[in-house]
Amino acid sequence: MKAIIIKEHGVPTLADIKEQTMRPDYIKVKNVALALNPTDLHHTSGAGRIGGIIGCDLSGIVEEVGEECKTHVKKGDHVYGVCHGANLSSEEDGAFAEYALIRDGHLARIPENMSFADTATLGVGITTIGQSLYMTMKLPLPGEEPIEDAPFFLVYGGSSATGTLAIQYAKLSGCRVVTTASPENFELVKSRGAEAVFDYHEPKCSRLIKEYTNGEIYYVLDCVSTESSYKLIADALPETPRKPVQVVTLLPTDAWPRKDVSATAILAYTSFGKAFTKFGIDFPEIRPHFEYGVMFWKLSQKLLAEGKIKPHPIALRKGGLAGIPGGIAEHAEGKVRAVKLVYRVDETDKGQSSQGAPIQGPELGSKW
Ligand SMILES: NC(=O)c1ccc[n+]([C@@H]2O[C@H](COP(=O)([O-])OP(=O)(O)OC[C@H]3O[C@@H](n4cnc5c(N)ncnc54)[C@H](OP(=O)(O)O)[C@@H]3O)[C@@H](O)[C@H]2O)c1
Repeated sequence: MKAIIIKEHGVPTLADIKEQTMRPDYIKVKNVALALNPTDLHHTSGAGRIGGIIGCDLSGIVEEVGEECKTHVKKGDHVYGVCHGANLSSEEDGAFAEYALIRDGHLARIPENMSFADTATLGVGITTIGQSLYMTMKLPLPGEEPIEDAPFFLVYGGSSATGTLAIQYAKLSGCRVVTTASPENFELVKSRGAEAVFDYHEPKCSRLIKEYTNGEIYYVLDCVSTESSYKLIADALPETPRKPVQVVTLLPTDAWPRKDVSATAILAYTSFGKAFTKFGIDFPEIRPHFEYGVMFWKLSQKLLAEGKIKPHPIALRKGGLAGIPGGIAEHAEGKVRAVKLVYRVDETDKGQSSQGAPIQGPELGSKW
């Protein structure tokens, strides 16, 4: 089958490889649409396995259900799901191929009125929101009694793919959501439920957030997680918080500046309930993370079908699998703003070969 593999670090390449070997606790999907994540850049440029399939987000048609799987899907169902792209511990795990193996419970049926392209964008996002807002921060789940006193929730990077989901879920849990974005994306984040949005380029952004929230933010998800986002958030938080502040980040916390407020980095891959190595760290199998992920995927399937959650805006790109190296380069250049790049697998020309220009991703810290 055709797949995008890491030929050498920095070089995502379309290659012919053998189809994955079926596993009892996975579901095999014939991919229809694939969506990029910034993480694909990290994988390609250093954190992934040479020869491994990259990519996490997909939608497609169920081909085979492993005999130990508990997910209620059958051959022919239209689904969206998430894979462990560029897994150093297993080269067949990625999404960007004609077929993918999805861990039991980490996929859902596509609602009648939704497309393969729109739902292909959801996999990493759903898994990340489950781990951050609910498993870590312990907000009430959508559908439960909303959180008391409607506290402020700051989503830093509201126009990111994770951000537009975080805004919607935090609101469903009863929070008042404030967020940051560039002015051209103010409308997008408001359409997802943010009550106030601040331009992070403004030097006084922290002060404006602090004034608006009266120094009463107790929940923060940082969807950018850089030194500058950490500083802006740290300055927007109360100086002497009345209650513990929960800050969750999506990249290591080495540069988090406040000693009196702890910040926790989550890593969505622990949701698959399999041991793996990433960024030089050995992550053990964490069964409760897997169980939480399965529960949260089920809940999110219902929320999507009920129209309570909207996927991120998409930009359809040409070329099928062969187009993906170009999309990763766009991520490397910081050109992907407020959209998910999506590719249709059937556009891959069977005779085509494609090798991306060498790509350099950012260096990541180590404090997960
Ligand atoms: N740990 C995990 O499990 C996990 C899970 C998911 C994602 N991640 C990581 O989290 C990050 C976000 O992923 P994503 O897919 O949600 O991102 P994304 O959709 O690619 O985010 C793009 C948006 O982020 C904003 N942005 C970019 N650089 C910024 C900066 N320096 N300061 C402020 N805002 C900035 C921009 O907003 P404007 O256009 O409005 O300026 C841009 O539109 C990535 O680094 C990804 O690798 C980690």
